[in-house]
Amino acid sequence: MYDDRVRNPALLDRIVSAEEAALHIKDGMMVGMSGFTRAGEAKAVPMALAARAKTEPLQITLVTGASLGNDLDKTLAEAHVLSRRMPFQADPALRKAINAGEVMFVDQHLSETVEMLRTRQLGPVDVAVVEAVAITEQGGIVPTTSVGNSASFAILADKVIVEINLSQSAQLEGLHDIFIPTHRPVRMPIPVVSPESRVGVPFIPVDPDKIAAIVITEKLDSSSTILPPDDGTRAIAGHLSEFLQNEVKRGRLSNSLQPLQAGIGTIANAVLHGLIDTPFHDLKMYSEVLQDSTFDLFDAGKLDFASGSSITLSEEKYKEVFPQLNKYKSRLILRPQEISNHPEVVRRLGIIGINTALEFDIYGNVNSTHVGGTKMMNGIGGSGDFARNGYLSIFVTKATAKDGLISSVVPMVSHVDHNEHDVDILATEFGLADLRGLAPRERAPLIIQNCADPLYRDQLMDYYKRAVARGGHTPHVMEEALSWHVRLAETGSMK
Ligand code: COA
Repeated sequence: MYDDRVRNPALLDRIVSAEEAALHIKDGMMVGMSGFTRAGEAKAVPMALAARAKTEPLQITLVTGASLGNDLDKTLAEAHVLSRRMPFQADPALRKAINAGEVMFVDQHLSETVEMLRTRQLGPVDVAVVEAVAITEQGGIVPTTSVGNSASFAILADKVIVEINLSQSAQLEGLHDIFIPTHRPVRMPIPVVSPESRVGVPFIPVDPDKIAAIVITEKLDSSSTILPPDDGTRAIAGHLSEFLQNEVKRGRLSNSLQPLQAGIGTIANAVLHGLIDTPFHDLKMYSEVLQDSTFDLFDAGKLDFASGSSITLSEEKYKEVFPQLNKYKSRLILRPQEISNHPEVVRRLGIIGINTALEFDIYGNVNSTHVGGTKMMNGIGGSGDFARNGYLSIFVTKATAKDGLISSVVPMVSHVDHNEHDVDILATEFGLADLRGLAPRERAPLIIQNCADPLYRDQLMDYYKRAVARGGHTPHVMEEALSWHVRLAETGSMK
């Protein structure tokens, strides 16, 4: 009955219920599941695990590509199934459990997780659970809307459970490019020389004997939660496109720029969307999440090619794009996140990386993960992979949060994800600071004048002047450096 989706006849009798498949997962195991920014996650087996945890002790280490959709992180956290979780999440309930110390969250650069598993610094992976559109005649697994870490999970795990999702478009087959780096000490270069390089195979190669169970599902991916562009995000996009146009005028970039990467979230999506109204053309993306803006840029004739690790769209865009995926297919590739984010490739291609900060400081250090220095938001995701290795590392944020009570420009960040050495450009709705070639004492006045909300500029300048009076390469009034965060915690405002 499912022979168009499970094309290796020997595997047809492994089709079982999600509950039966989940029995392969035992208390204390490490499980690798598909799913990257709400796209292509295994949907039925995790629900069966959450149900089982009500009647028996069941706690696992869950490793995925990135965040999961369909409230799975919430369901698993609330069922207390997760003892350890890596490398990224974006769910309020799981965030709560992490910040309460109930779930041990390992916040990792997204390119690194499978490298650590492959070299047995982490692991072993006991079971992999991977969503697929099909299993080929040879037993190759064809992923759905994300590749994430699925290929390495399936290759490294003792057992593989495949969820065949009948709702995922069969047109996805052929979109993926699965390439796994060779083992050291004889590792060869990754042969990706442009975003459109196809260097692997369109399925995950596994020994069919390892496929322990196949589950048939029909649940759709969750749509993305990004908000449409607003005045603030449009202003940020405006500053960035003006900056990039100046780079073209100076002969540093052509009107096709360099391959673009944009991080998750509303702001990064809005910034890319803003490129529609610019003179740039023949653009390419080498990113990890392909959001609505990717397809808007295709439709506007601005974008030639997009390589990513997942496609995560709003409900409206999902309905528009997936029924006519073949229209875009020749201009799209989905890769393992190890390859989409690989430092070697990011540096070779010269990527312009645009990621979002929660806050940055007057010297250009960026905090993307920790609210108030202690509470995990989502995780570093791929932002560090791109910021450290790209051609231009851009961080954007609105200048204030929570109706102006929080300044996103602070004397000292309360947690550092991207340090001053990795950050080239900062932009808020008020303007942009180009930090390239500037020493800390040159950076601070520029960041304060160009990026801070006028509400906080005098306060920041006052701090900076008093710090300079004390001296130093990176002047600080150390006993005051985090006082803005302390004041926020005590009074609810940084003012
Ligand atoms: N202090 C406290 N809270 C802050 C803040 C600050 N300095 N700045 C923003 N916030 C809050 C906002 O108020 C908002 O809260 P809400 O959800 O209660 O409304 C929330 O953070 C998200 O901010 P928003 O302005 O809507 O931005 P976003 O959706 O673009 O997300 C990040 C911003 C930083 C959370 C998100 O981009 C992220 O997790 N980044 C790290 C991972 C990453 O960069 N990955 C890229 C490759 S995967």
